[in-house]
Amino acid sequence: MSRRDPASPATPPAVAADDGDGRIGVLFVCLGNICRSPLAEGAFHHAVAARGLGHRFRIDSAGISDFHEGDPPDRRAIAVAAARGLDISGQRSRPVRPGDFVAFDWILAMDGSNLTALDAAAPDNATAHVGLLLEVAEGRAKAVPDPYYDGPAEFSAVLDTVSRAAERLLDRLLGEPQDGRAAPAPKRRST
Ligand code: 4NP
Repeated sequence: MSRRDPASPATPPAVAADDGDGRIGVLFVCLGNICRSPLAEGAFHHAVAARGLGHRFRIDSAGISDFHEGDPPDRRAIAVAAARGLDISGQRSRPVRPGDFVAFDWILAMDGSNLTALDAAAPDNATAHVGLLLEVAEGRAKAVPDPYYDGPAEFSAVLDTVSRAAERLLDRLLGEPQDGRAAPAPKRRST
């Protein structure tokens, strides 16, 4: 069972746990791992690198499905990222694996459907905190909308959303103040 308590938001502790090798593992998850979670992975890489903290994090993304296993991100996602100086073209889609629930400290879903699927897939020995990206990062229990059937404007909006979330997530995982306020105290979670 994962450490997410469905009855309470997955508020990060003031200082995030690491994965035993000194790095904090963060896995971003969507349905296909070709649109939203690759953009979130790219945005979080960028946020971490901009603060010179690449050595402190292990970052990846995955899909609930294996529909696109081995594929690069959607060309529209690659294009909106490239327009802002992010190269996500080297990423390859893969499905979430049981070992991810132990290997990563945080598994962050793009929408409620992804989260439900993650809860169902979590093995008994899961230790990861599992939650919605926007809830964990910003305290907003909202989805990152799926842009797959939309156009460039929606992909660009997703990148706006996940870029902001990446900065807030990093603040919270590092226990830094946000907007002049201290990061919230950790909440108890089920085990
Ligand atoms: P993603 O978007 O979950 O953000 O990667 C989608 C990608 C592929 C499909 C649906 C959503 N699909 O149906 O193949």
